[in-house]
Amino acid sequence: MKTLRLDTNEEDIRRAGEIIRDGGLVAFPTETVYGLGADALNEVAVRSVYEAKGRPSDNPMIVHIAEASDMDALVEGGSFMLPIYAKIAAKQLWPGPLTMVLRKDPSVPGVTTGGLDTVAIRMPMNETARRLIAAAGVPVAAPSANISGRPSPTTPYDVLEDMDGRIDAVIMGDQCDVGIESTVVDMTGETPVILRPGIITKEWLEAVLGCTVEYDKSLLMKPENEIDIRDVNGMDTNTVVNADADTPATADAEFKPRSPGMKYTHYSPKAKVRLIAGDNETFGRRVMELGVEAKRNGLNPAILEYGNDAKKAAHKLFADLRELDRQGYDIIFIRAIEEKGAGFSVMNRMLKSAGYDIVK
Ligand code: TXA
Ligand code: MG
Repeated sequence: MKTLRLDTNEEDIRRAGEIIRDGGLVAFPTETVYGLGADALNEVAVRSVYEAKGRPSDNPMIVHIAEASDMDALVEGGSFMLPIYAKIAAKQLWPGPLTMVLRKDPSVPGVTTGGLDTVAIRMPMNETARRLIAAAGVPVAAPSANISGRPSPTTPYDVLEDMDGRIDAVIMGDQCDVGIESTVVDMTGETPVILRPGIITKEWLEAVLGCTVEYDKSLLMKPENEIDIRDVNGMDTNTVVNADADTPATADAEFKPRSPGMKYTHYSPKAKVRLIAGDNETFGRRVMELGVEAKRNGLNPAILEYGNDAKKAAHKLFADLRELDRQGYDIIFIRAIEEKGAGFSVMNRMLKSAGYDIVK
């Protein structure tokens, strides 16, 4: 299949919309990461998304809409019946990097929701994304546009690296502002529960919704594998080096995730990733020691460090991991970020890309 490169002009967006309406796959920019879009109500199209990504089909997709009112047809009883905090969230935080998990209308196919009776819905902020969804005239199911297990794409070139020849088209938009995926919140219970942390933080949600918001237990019980400093390269630990779609994360047995996506290995570049905790000085010293050890093992090491700037780290982490892969590094030392505010969400991605291995 030849993958079309499309522009963001009217003509190309209309064409992209037609491709989706006809059951095809189009990658498009959002404010978080690039998505791989298909008609959410077309089972065959949705199946081909799983296929293109090499993604396990029990991992449900986010359905993207252009207007808040498009939610009506997707949720049980229409949006009138939603819990009050879901209504507030739609009003105050959409369009934006927030995904709400709600009870689904029977018209949403089971393939789209991984067989669950809930549906995840998001109205993106990105203009191009909303123009595309409107042009398609259908709700657009879109996971991140990467091969399953790889870092999410934040540029059209990242998308092509994974998807060229596997999908119908890519909209060649700008680099994504946020850089990590949306906050996923389960809004089906008494209290909203964060299933995947993002740039919209727990504190932010609580302030807007005026109620307590919880983290899913699996986000708090982080099964970190503390790595001994002498075990620098950890070549004999079972860290995933080349993640495939179905490789369960090392952490798997420890907890039962509510968001099916959380049980799979994620965000892994080809290089091995080592996460290093500690202040500036400790980090510097560790990187020296580990770097020497890596080189002695014939590995070419690289360093990623963002201080405690969570926004910058979010914006750059996936892009940097992919860039270092292109440059052929074998091992990447990432400085752990303070788990405050959005730092909690960034650390979630860092830990996963390191297969939960951390040097303290
Ligand atoms: O920022 C984003 O959310 C991007 C852009 C393209 O919008 N999309 C994205 O999709 O990250 P994906 O498929 O890579 O991640 C969707 C996450 C997965 O962790 C999945 O398990 C969870 O949302 N999810 C989807 N539907 C769900 C449901 N009904 N219940 C619980 N979790 C759900
Ligand atoms: Mg993804």
